[in-house]
Formats: sequence, structure tokens, C-alpha cells
Amino acid sequence: MSRVYLDNAATTPISEVALQAFIEQSRQLGNPSSLHTYGRRVRKDVEEAREKLAGLIGCHSSEIIFTGSGTEANNLAIKGAYWHRNQSGKQRNVIVISAFEHHAVLDPARWLEDFEGAEVVEVPVTREGFVNLSELRNVVLERHDEIALISIMHSNNEVGTVQPMDDISKIAQEFEIPLHTDAVQSLGKVPLSFKDLGLFAMTISAHKVGGPIGVGALILQKGIDITPILHGGGQERDIRSGTLNAAGIIAFVAATQSAMRDLESNAVKISTLRKKLVAAIQSEISDATLNGVLEGATLPGIANISFPNTESDALLLLFDAEGIACSTGSACSAGVQEASHVLMAMGMSEKEARSSLRFSLGTGNSDSDIEYLQTCIKRVIDRARAAFRG
Ligand SMILES: Cc1ncc(COP(=O)(O)O)c(C=O)c1O
Repeated sequence: MSRVYLDNAATTPISEVALQAFIEQSRQLGNPSSLHTYGRRVRKDVEEAREKLAGLIGCHSSEIIFTGSGTEANNLAIKGAYWHRNQSGKQRNVIVISAFEHHAVLDPARWLEDFEGAEVVEVPVTREGFVNLSELRNVVLERHDEIALISIMHSNNEVGTVQPMDDISKIAQEFEIPLHTDAVQSLGKVPLSFKDLGLFAMTISAHKVGGPIGVGALILQKGIDITPILHGGGQERDIRSGTLNAAGIIAFVAATQSAMRDLESNAVKISTLRKKLVAAIQSEISDATLNGVLEGATLPGIANISFPNTESDALLLLFDAEGIACSTGSACSAGVQEASHVLMAMGMSEKEARSSLRFSLGTGNSDSDIEYLQTCIKRVIDRARAAFRG
């Protein structure tokens, strides 16, 4: 049986350059905060990596705050900005997000609503998977004095649509509202520049770009203060205490550098494969439909497909039995028997949302993976339909 990995949006294989960088750096003894030679040597390596990353994503090196994950960076941006904006009297308790954010944005915002007096406003999204700009504009026009921050993802992790960040940024800037974006799925896949986007903060994560799991960063505009979540040794501008994960950071930057160097050629290769995958599926299953858009503002690798009269959990296991790894949506909520909030925000019924799967391609995939999937798909769908109880 072949093994085909089509879950690159959940996590990518670690790239060879990142792995080598990780191993080499792990041999270096020293806490980067220590003042002796060991510590200073590791600190130098981290600072060189920071400079390199800054050049790659269009920010100043002092704007990078390394974290332990994308989830942590999102929590820091949202809670940190909310607390900071509400500490000095004037109440700005509204948090504006899109209705199909990743749980790492949705849940901290809702937590602030449950425990800290926030009000979360979810801007609707279109059937194709784009934030409704006129709805966003209306919310901002009506409530700009009350808004603590806006957080809208750069690209959606389940359907792959890339959001109109320039337009979103213009709306935020007109009323001087801090704008954060979760760019976890975009880094290394589509062009990304912190300074060009006019953001106060941006989240990235290593393991979606060929780096190790457990490293992320919040890019936080110079001069902007937020309230820390972690308190301790005062690392990272006193915003994120904790000993720096030097090996992880250096591997993260090596992976990002390699992904950005090959961004265009990878995007062409992967988006061609994605179109082949959609065509192969639709040639075997005539009522299968793509959620999101086939071309235009979309990530090269994510294809979310509905298979009417099936149940996605069963589908996932049937594909797995054929050696094909895919996903029912966000890996972070896998195991939780919920229909995708992303697909429902896009106007699908719960039943439709429960019949959808995400296939996500990466640099390791090739034509033969699509050909293999084509040989199994009819069998998988027939079995899923036979077991489907409606
Ligand atoms: C859009 C998005 N944001 C945030 C995260 C969380 O990142 P991490 O796994 O580094 O915590 C993910 C991971 O699935 C994601 O896809």
C-alpha cells in the first residue's frame, strides 16, 4: 500500500536544512541570557537568526517576539492588546474578528468575553470564503471608539482563501484601530511583508513551513505596548519571558529562508498539483464540490471538498486505511466531534459541513500521489455512502 501525506496544513515534514540547523544548534551549550562566553555565543546565533527572519518578512529585528507556538502568539496579541487598551480608563472592550478564524484566535477572544468583559463581534464571510468587507466597514464605522483591536486571518487554514488584507488594513487605519493577522498558513506560501500590511501584530509558526513544532513568533510593531501573559526572566522585550529556544528558532529561520527562496517555484508546482487533485476527484465523484476558490486569492496547497451523503470522520478513516492522510478541518480541533465552524460561517449547513474533507499539499507531494488517490477514491466514497445514515 502507498502512503500519501495530504495534511500539510496540519503540519509539514521538517525540512532537511531545518533539521540540520536544529541538530547543530542543539549541540551548543549555553542559555542565551547568560553573560558568559557560552551564553553570548548562543545569543549571537539567535540574534543573527532574528535579523535574517526580519529581512524575510519585512519587519525590524526588534519587532520579533519568539514564542512557543502560533497559538501562544495569537493569545499574546489578543489578550495582550485587549488588556493594554483597557487599562487606562477609556473602555475599548470590543474585539472584532472574522467568523472563520482559527480556534487559536476565536477562543482567546471568547475567553475575554467570558471572563474579562469583552464583547466579540464576528464579521461574516462570503460563501467563497472571504471576509465581507462592507460588513467590516459598517462595524468599524459604528463602533470605532469602542474597538480594542481587529484580528483577521491572512489566509484560512481549512479552505485556503487569502483574505483582502490591504482593504482590511485601510479600514483599520482610517480609524487608527490596531490590526492583527494570523499569518500561520501564509508564511512561505504567499508573499508576506509585515510593514507593507500596516499591522500592529502578526502571528507566524515554524511547523507549517518546514520548521520544528513548538516555535512561533509574534511580530509586534515597534513602540506598541501589550500586556504580557507570561512573567519571569523578562526575555523578548519583557513581553514573553522564558529561556529562548535557540535550536528551534534557528531551525525555524532556516526553514523560512528556504521556503521563501523557493516560494514562486513551489507555488507553481503545488497549485498545479492542487488543480489536478480537484479534477481527479471530480472525474471520479461527479457531485464532489470544492469549498473556497479554485484560482485567484487562494493558498497553493489547500483543497477543501464536500462529498454529499458521507460523513467526514468516516471518510478520514477510510482514506487512512488506504494510506492517505487528510483532515476534517483544523488539526487543533480534531477529535472534537463538531462540524467545521469555518464551513458553517461560509453558509453551509451542518450536514454539508460534516461531509467535507481538507486535502493539503506540500513540497513533498507529486503527480503519483494524485494518481494513487484517484485509484482509491471511488471505493472510499462508495463505502462511506453505504455507511451513511443521513
Ligand atoms: C491559521 C492557524 N493559526 C494558528 C495555528 C496554531 O499554530 P500552532 O500549531 O503553532 O500553535 C494553526 C495551526 O493549525 C493555524 O492553522
